[in-house]
Amino acid sequence: MELIFLFLWGLLRSGEAAGHGNGKCFAPLYIEFAEITIDRVMVGSKVRYKCEAGYRRIPGESNFIVCINDTGLIHWTTKASVCERDSRATSQQSERKPENPVTIVPSDTAGYCGIPSPVEHTTPRVTEYAVGQELHYKCLHGYDARPPTSDISTCKEEHGKTFWTRLSLLCTNDSKSGEEMTQPIPVTGSTGCFAID
Ligand SMILES: *[C@@H]1O[C@H](CO)[C@@H](O)[C@H](O)[C@H]1NC(C)=O
Ligand SMILES: *[C@@H]1O[C@H](CO)[C@@H](O)[C@H](O)[C@H]1NC(C)=O
Repeated sequence: MELIFLFLWGLLRSGEAAGHGNGKCFAPLYIEFAEITIDRVMVGSKVRYKCEAGYRRIPGESNFIVCINDTGLIHWTTKASVCERDSRATSQQSERKPENPVTIVPSDTAGYCGIPSPVEHTTPRVTEYAVGQELHYKCLHGYDARPPTSDISTCKEEHGKTFWTRLSLLCTNDSKSGEEMTQPIPVTGSTGCFAID
């Protein structure tokens, strides 16, 4: 009886943690000519396995994993398979908004998730970030001509809204004066809820 109760409670709690809305940030701010690294993936973050070209999602199969805290053991949930060969392989859908490449480089295993396990014919991509998650931005090699060339954006929550803290990066190979350069994008208060299949 108690076990069943605990199980249900656990389900409700994890449903809450995985849900859209408060406590999560979505698409990170985009900075041209920059890349993002994450050294500590926080509990509550979510990864989506995207099928590679020529493959499609197995019907009824979820393609998400979540970084969970299993009574003190922090780890990604697992997925055995996500995609199957698509015989009707059609051309890929149109380009989405630009994104900075994101690499997970775990530096600390205690309390954080590491690199998601590879799943055949997929590319894993973080799609939801827990509040407190830090993203390290760095200008790509060749576009780091003038400082600041790196910065950190953090997922924050204030007054029930989640947002990424603004960045000041100047990723360019241009040696001319600052005036002509793209200013950092000031984004605040965005709940940033982008539906991704
Ligand atoms: C994980 O859960 C344990 C309790 O089960 C708690 O003591 C610990 O602080 C949690 N860690 C994180 C990173 O949430
Ligand atoms: C900057 O990049 C552009 C295009 O990538 C290139 O044509 C130009 O030569 C570069 N300038 C410098 C100073 O490296």
